[in-house]
Amino acid sequence: MALLSVEHLRICYGDLVAVRDVSFDVEPSDVFVLLGANGAGKTSILRCISGLHPPSAGRVTNGARTLSGLRPHSVARAGIAHVPEGRRIFSTLTVEENLAVSFIRARAGGTLPQARDAVYEIFPRLKERRHQAAGTLSGGEQQMLAIGRALMNAPTLLMLDEPSLGLSPLMTELMFERLGVIRAAGTAILLVEQNAACLEMATRGLIIANGSIVLAGDRQRLHDADFVRAAYFGL
Ligand SMILES: Nc1ncnc2c1ncn2[C@@H]1O[C@H](COP(=O)(O)OP(=O)(O)OP(=O)(O)O)[C@@H](O)[C@H]1O
Ligand SMILES: [Mg+2]
Repeated sequence: MALLSVEHLRICYGDLVAVRDVSFDVEPSDVFVLLGANGAGKTSILRCISGLHPPSAGRVTNGARTLSGLRPHSVARAGIAHVPEGRRIFSTLTVEENLAVSFIRARAGGTLPQARDAVYEIFPRLKERRHQAAGTLSGGEQQMLAIGRALMNAPTLLMLDEPSLGLSPLMTELMFERLGVIRAAGTAILLVEQNAACLEMATRGLIIANGSIVLAGDRQRLHDADFVRAAYFGL
């Protein structure tokens, strides 16, 4: 059974059908990417998995458990963490405080300092900045903090909504490299992006346009597709 299974998902906003018949599985070993342009339906899919928006049809399961219909806190408790678009960190709190407010002892395996140290190991920059107000961090550091907050409760699946948005190519590369480290430490990743550079560290994924799947496959298949080469790499 897959860690996350999305079956025939349909998402509507009133009369607008934003996502139609989207199905995919994420395995524990995956960095699974949902690549698509503005308005493709990527955020809608993540919000639906998180319980923030109900599906109009289809279902989402986590192993033997059905997630569709659960409240967001129950989905989070099942080990699925969501780093939303726009980061949403507490800008007046310090790095350390931001990590502390995210910690839920019942969900995390160990203690608060243990969870924080695990985050600092992945993002040493956050340790250097731990007493600094989050609002004074650079865009890249704020994204690290948003990811660090999600990692505080040792999720089995980390979902990220366009983490590269607004970052320099160098910072984007560093952040993607860190996602590889997080994956290697045992957390599966579901990554939403418009930036095709993410294909470098993906295992598998989907290309989505106007709410529908246009291509599915492993990293190489997505990378080599004429559609992707034309739309994302300008080749
Ligand atoms: N709350 C909402 N009410 C009405 N329509 C919405 C709502 N949220 C999203 N939509 C519409 O659903 C479609 C998919 O939007 P979504 O935000 O999922 O796309 P996206 O792929 O995340 O785009 P972007 O890359 O710009 O973030 C769009 O046409 C959008 O206008
Ligand atoms: Mg979006």
